[in-house]
Amino acid sequence: MQKAVIRGNLVLDYAGNEALNTICSNLTFSGKNVRKIVVTSCEPNDGKSFVSIQTVVNMARRGKRVLLMDADLRLSVLNAHYDIQLSGPGFGLAHLLSGQCTVDDVLYETNIQNVYYIPIGTDVQAPLSLIATPDFDHLVKVLGESFDMVIIDAPPVGLVIDAAEIAKSCDGVMLVLEYNKTHRRALQAAKEQMEVTGTPILGCVLNKVTMDRLSTKKYYSYGGHYGRYGKYGKYGRYGRYERYERSADKKETDAGRESR
Ligand SMILES: Nc1ncnc2c1ncn2[C@@H]1O[C@H](COP(=O)(O)OP(=O)(O)OP(=O)(O)O)[C@@H](O)[C@H]1O
Ligand SMILES: [Mg+2]
Repeated sequence: MQKAVIRGNLVLDYAGNEALNTICSNLTFSGKNVRKIVVTSCEPNDGKSFVSIQTVVNMARRGKRVLLMDADLRLSVLNAHYDIQLSGPGFGLAHLLSGQCTVDDVLYETNIQNVYYIPIGTDVQAPLSLIATPDFDHLVKVLGESFDMVIIDAPPVGLVIDAAEIAKSCDGVMLVLEYNKTHRRALQAAKEQMEVTGTPILGCVLNKVTMDRLSTKKYYSYGGHYGRYGKYGKYGRYGRYERYERSADKKETDAGRESR
């Protein structure tokens, strides 16, 4: 097994901690067979990676052996955003699924007790050819048997089909919504796409909520939402998602924008 050091700041404030505790408690009570969970959202930047890594860390603190798999093979920023340093040649999911290395080469034990990590290794132009395969399905199955929980950080379901393909190998879906941004119609579409996979949506995380706004304004939620995060400020980095948009169904994307 390889080693990884996560240097990024994972410390949450009180409200964030409480929200993560709620999410993880609810996940714990989702059932003993719910171990492989894909995290996705309608659009980019809603906070999938943030929720994924924080969920993993919180679960690990509860004594669970948890694996974070980065399956955003088109545009992962986990390593850079959380300053994750990998030992060895830096193999990841893309290398494994394309037959260039073994599971042992891509499985990293991190400096956080009980937290294990599989990075993407390298960006891939056609990730579906790696993900929508029996090899991927088998891998997730085996990992689900080796860890108490496997959290898979996926691309947004509204733009590319990857998350739905990943969901087919999982026990449940966690949908991240961005407060005041995720549109009801986009959410409905994401829900329908996930229902086609047959994998249940365990719940939604309403992310980037400013608590004082939440208390004075109306908001909607969908499903059994796990918790809320106090988030302070907005992020608008859509420019960097052009690769998603190129590979996505352009019509869908445009329709999504018009509906907002
Ligand atoms: N609850 C939160 N509180 C504070 N910052 C947050 C929160 N959620 C997300 N962020 C920040 O918002 C930005 C986008 O988050 P993140 O990268 O997790 O989104 P994503 O949905 O994984 O994006 P992508 O679609 O690119 O994979 C990051 O800078 C992250 O640190
Ligand atoms: Mg992400």
